[in-house]
Amino acid sequence: MIEFTGRVAVVTGAGRGLGAEHAKLLASRGARVLVNDPGGSVQGTEDGSRPADDVVAEITAAGGTAVADYHSVAEPESAAAIVDAAVEAFGTVDVLVNNAGILRDRAFHNLSIEDIHAVLDVHLRGAFYVTQPALRIMRERGYGRIVLTSSASGVMGNFGQSNYGAAKTGLVGLMNVLRLETSKYDIKVNTIAPIAGTRMTVELLGEMAGAFDPALVSPVVAWFCSEECDLSGELWSVGGGTVSRFFTGLTEGYVKHPEREGPLTPEDVAANVAAIRDEAGYLVGTSSRDEFTKLYPKLAG
Ligand code: NAI
Repeated sequence: MIEFTGRVAVVTGAGRGLGAEHAKLLASRGARVLVNDPGGSVQGTEDGSRPADDVVAEITAAGGTAVADYHSVAEPESAAAIVDAAVEAFGTVDVLVNNAGILRDRAFHNLSIEDIHAVLDVHLRGAFYVTQPALRIMRERGYGRIVLTSSASGVMGNFGQSNYGAAKTGLVGLMNVLRLETSKYDIKVNTIAPIAGTRMTVELLGEMAGAFDPALVSPVVAWFCSEECDLSGELWSVGGGTVSRFFTGLTEGYVKHPEREGPLTPEDVAANVAAIRDEAGYLVGTSSRDEFTKLYPKLAG
């Protein structure tokens, strides 16, 4: 049984959609949960709503423990106040789920500077701002679980989402480095790329939305947040009951030995595109050192 008795969880953007389901599942399994959400539209503009209150009421009615928080993740001081609120209410932070998100979709050439900043601020900078103070606490205690929320829109690409895709893939880079920097502690950092029928995806999923209940994403988040989770640095696609792993592979590639065969030329590149792209024998690395370890023997040999 995966459970969280005695654990404190912070879930950002937990007033609705995926975050609300994550918060409810963690609370139902014993976590004390800080339900963060300032409210607002899908685009991140204020609309006077306080959805965090509804989620807290639902958790409390079901016998769980939760408090609401209305700070935005998008500015450093405000984001730090989210972590402070969890410490004030429950004494510490063991689990952080970075889930808050907005959309400002537009073809790249039409994006305003404001559209670029708003999306990067909430998804990417916001994850930095909330994770830093949380991680400091986790390092002191030698324990923590952090989940980031990426998207196939960045990992694989989606028309009209350059700001969102870049922010979401930036989170994968953040995870890869945090995995290494936290490895000597019992701190795990993992990332989901979810698919769920929420207000954010009504247009995208259309009739398919019903097949992607947000509650079907939360079990993966709960496992990543649990003591049982012994993996770090994973990026998993999850939606509608499916769970898969994304990974980055480095192909065997092409090599021209400079001393024996002369320097690499643009023509060599042109003539060897197929070999460079050939997926047979690819490497899935665990740090940038693996790239060097793979390539150096080819040059030395
Ligand atoms: P949603 O719009 O239902 O929920 C997002 C929540 O984040 C909202 O309640 C919103 O008020 C909150 N939020 C917005 N700006 C915030 C800020 N500055 N500080 C704190 N909270 C803020 O959308 P959904 O679908 O539940 O999205 C949750 C996360 O999952 C987002 O990061 C989204 O990008 C990501 N995602 C969702 C997918 C899906 O299929 N629904 C696909 C891939 C990623």
